[in-house]
Amino acid sequence: MFFERPEAGERALLVHCHFTRPQRDALDSSVDEFIELVRAAGVSPVYLESTRRDDATPRYLIGAGKVEEMAELVAAHDIDVVLFNHSLSPSQERNLEKVLQCKVVDRTGLILDIFAQRARSHAGKLQVELAQLEHISTRLIRGWTHLERQRGGIGLRGPGESQLETDRRLLRERIKTIRRRLQKIDAQHQQGRRARNRAELPTVALVGYTNAGKSTLFNALTASTVLVKDQLFATLDTTMRALELPGFGRLVLADTVGFVSNLPHQLVDAFKATLDEAAEADLLLHIVDASAADLREQFVAVERVLEEIGAEDLPCICVMNKSDLLAPAAAGPGEALAAGDHPAANTGSLSDRVTVSARTGAGLDRLREALIAALDEDRWNGELQLAPGDARLRARLFAMGAVQSEHIAEDGSVTLNLAHRRKLLQRILQAEGKSLPTA
Ligand code: GTP
Repeated sequence: MFFERPEAGERALLVHCHFTRPQRDALDSSVDEFIELVRAAGVSPVYLESTRRDDATPRYLIGAGKVEEMAELVAAHDIDVVLFNHSLSPSQERNLEKVLQCKVVDRTGLILDIFAQRARSHAGKLQVELAQLEHISTRLIRGWTHLERQRGGIGLRGPGESQLETDRRLLRERIKTIRRRLQKIDAQHQQGRRARNRAELPTVALVGYTNAGKSTLFNALTASTVLVKDQLFATLDTTMRALELPGFGRLVLADTVGFVSNLPHQLVDAFKATLDEAAEADLLLHIVDASAADLREQFVAVERVLEEIGAEDLPCICVMNKSDLLAPAAAGPGEALAAGDHPAANTGSLSDRVTVSARTGAGLDRLREALIAALDEDRWNGELQLAPGDARLRARLFAMGAVQSEHIAEDGSVTLNLAHRRKLLQRILQAEGKSLPTA
């Protein structure tokens, strides 16, 4: 299939293969998403080769005949790069480049490229570079033959080292340096989190499929200006803002990187630092683009990533966004999302569903109410008995404003009437070897 008017940028031939037998590393991501990803990378799709076969081939992933046909297309239409909606092994990539006589990039390489273009903060850039280097290191043999021809190896070799060895050594060193820097940044983030915990502000994290409207909603809720763009992955770093909710008080709202189906594993690891914010939140807002045709797949893809980072049991409100794009009377595709679709039934997130439009502001008041109700559910009210020796704990509970009233008995034992966030109280009591009494 040819695309109508190829835009500016590298000219790409896209390959999507539907394998009829389940594959080992099955990647059957949607073609629409693939095209979106290609556009997000600033590449111009010229032709889409959509094919079917039973199994992947070890040599080219697809059949040799198909590859020959594609080589003709590449030559006839001035193609710069062939993009696969699948993972390719280094040798498949090499074999394909030999026949096609142009650059071949797989799905992981494509997503990494988008991430590299979008990363804004220092940590984000480092994380992307790390993922890229790790991706490259498995493909270094080709890089070497290619570099050797270009630079002739002058000036870059260490004594007695082949170019390949030099490249590997440089790569290893760079990976090590980046890891060290990231560890430092992670430690700083943790300190930030601890500071927030000390300030006892509950954290609400916005998660969702890329382009669902997280940044727009974040802006609408905080009236701040975070980069909003109609491009996949506009957000690569968690952005945090304090927010004042009338009737509740302050809380921290965190915007996170957009999720995508079949996120390459290197990326799940590389972006752990930003996703950690979601894993440690008190409440998740799962933003869904209610107007998306494949919203069910998007929803499930996000839930999978949440499971991977260990956030599946957090309380969650499902926010159906872009209600302005739905016909008012019609149910809209959002209704197609039934409770049975939920892969992790215990989170119950779909019963807490709010429909909004981040663009027009419709439904935001209801979302704020739902948010307060969900955070209030985390509140604990009750009595706690303390021994006379528990002075430090008593002082701490007073300092955080958790004590409603106090009764001191003749023997010095104290009864406190507490009202505060359950999780926080639990943590503080645990640190003293105690636990919250069951009400
Ligand atoms: P990533 O950073 O890629 O994860 O994206 P995101 O989820 O943060 O999406 P973003 O807020 O950047 O919005 C993506 C696009 O959807 C932008 O063009 C927004 O203007 C648009 N959008 C967001 N909310 C709404 C809405 O309620 N209605 C309509 N019509 N468009 C919206």
